[in-house]
Amino acid sequence: MKEKSSEKVESQKIQQEKIRENIEKISHKLLIISGKGGVGKTTVATNLAFSLALRGKKVGLLDVDIHGPNIPKMVGVEGEKLSALPDGRIEPIFVSPGVKVVSVSPLLRNSDTPVIWRGPLKMKLISQFLSDVEWGELDYLIVDSPPGTGDEPLSAAQLISSLTGAIIVTTPQEVALLDSRKAVNFARALNIPIIGIIENMSGFTCPKCGETTYLFKTGGGERSARDLDVPFLGKIPLDPEIVDSGDKGEPFVVTHKNSSKQNHMDKIVDNIIKEIEKITKTKK
Ligand SMILES: Nc1ncnc2c1ncn2[C@@H]1O[C@H](COP(=O)(O)OP(=O)(O)O)[C@@H](O)[C@H]1O
Ligand SMILES: [Mg+2]
Repeated sequence: MKEKSSEKVESQKIQQEKIRENIEKISHKLLIISGKGGVGKTTVATNLAFSLALRGKKVGLLDVDIHGPNIPKMVGVEGEKLSALPDGRIEPIFVSPGVKVVSVSPLLRNSDTPVIWRGPLKMKLISQFLSDVEWGELDYLIVDSPPGTGDEPLSAAQLISSLTGAIIVTTPQEVALLDSRKAVNFARALNIPIIGIIENMSGFTCPKCGETTYLFKTGGGERSARDLDVPFLGKIPLDPEIVDSGDKGEPFVVTHKNSSKQNHMDKIVDNIIKEIEKITKTKK
């Protein structure tokens, strides 16, 4: 029994080393988390990835939401399969203008198939995505998590020992803020630097009369960032075109790249880059 567990420890060490070697050519690894679902993590992860790609960066987008993999749909590659390279490694799906996408979804028979797996199996798959995918040289790897602080973000955080930091997405109302506090504490418990909080779905401006209504209140994300002493990265308003972009599989920042409508996202990306610079400086 003892021999078996030492074998297990040894194989875990080998796998950890494989991951380290495979992702050492990735400059920044960012984990997107939230305390709960439907707050816009996948939307933020997708638009952040494409925004960086539009700025000429090499970007990978890894979907570790095993039960609800939405990235392929949101970037327009739903139904596409992952292929194996001649050496058996996994080739990510390349999405123009330059984002390498990996998700469990292209491994499923169809998108309605539920994944019924326990924690260890999910960890194994995430581990393989990190060790066996040919990510190549990247400036950023963005990891989109399922809601909450469960197996998937925990596995990603443990497997990527060189995580640059976590980005927390929240909506402005009190209950969502309570959940975002949990996400901050999760990152702190795992010693992951916190890049900051994004307040999504912050106000809706009526396209007909121009009046802004704060359906879920406003300013809560900023307040909770202040209370928790973490950077506030910015607000994204509720916009029906964001829903439409997600449903059509055309990232909002790509379809609106010349429009002032994506200024808020642009500002958030600038803030993320600034915070990453601060984190990497203090690490040196
Ligand atoms: N700022 C926004 N304005 C309008 N709709 C949004 C916004 N952010 C997200 N959505 C929509 O809300 C739904 C949930 O977003 P999603 O990114 O899937 O959340 P999560 O990944 O946190 O579960 C999606 O249909 C998405 O298009
Ligand atoms: Mg999601």
